[in-house]
Amino acid sequence: MPPWAATDAFFETVRERGVAVRSRRLRPPDLDDPQRIRAGAGNYEAMCAECHAAPGLAPSDLPRTLHPPPPDLTHPGLEDPRRTFWIIAHGLRMTAMPAWGAVLDDEELWSLTAFVHRLPLIDRASYLALVEASAGHTHGGSVLRHGPAGGIDGVRGVPCEPH
Ligand code: HEC
Repeated sequence: MPPWAATDAFFETVRERGVAVRSRRLRPPDLDDPQRIRAGAGNYEAMCAECHAAPGLAPSDLPRTLHPPPPDLTHPGLEDPRRTFWIIAHGLRMTAMPAWGAVLDDEELWSLTAFVHRLPLIDRASYLALVEASAGHTHGGSVLRHGPAGGIDGVRGVPCEPH
């Protein structure tokens, strides 16, 4: 057992309790709306894929540097979208999960929520098409991916609009 396991269990409990209680009152919009899912795709690629993976694309090294490691969101695992929204908005303390509510509005956060709940069903081709069709990386403040276009399939590293 790694030496930090007990501490991990402690933080896990504290985090889960706070998230569950506080997210309960949220009212999700229609998360099956294809437009909303598409709207989330660009931001996911720009701000999340580096840590949480993307269908059929080579994983980055970043997840291996983090403890706890970010879950691969291309695998099913998310259940309550209100919990997902809350975590995306507020982040998870004591982990590398950022609080995106600082730079995204509720609409953008719900679109990301819709997108990550759909993600396990999306294959590589559809993923690339959705990212391309997405209004994209709407907030423009990615900490990870500013820079010229390039990378895998020319999709990774989508340049940000001036902001
Ligand atoms: C720098 C790395 C990093 C980035 C970038 C990042 N996350 Fe995370 N995220 C994490 C880590 C680490 C965890 C898991 C913490 C834990 O195990 O408690 C996490 C957890 C989550 C969870 C909870 C998963 C679960 O099964 O409970 C969701 C949902 C999530 N992230 C969504 C996102 C979204 C959406 C974005 C982009 C807007 C994003 N994350 C960007 C590191 C990151």
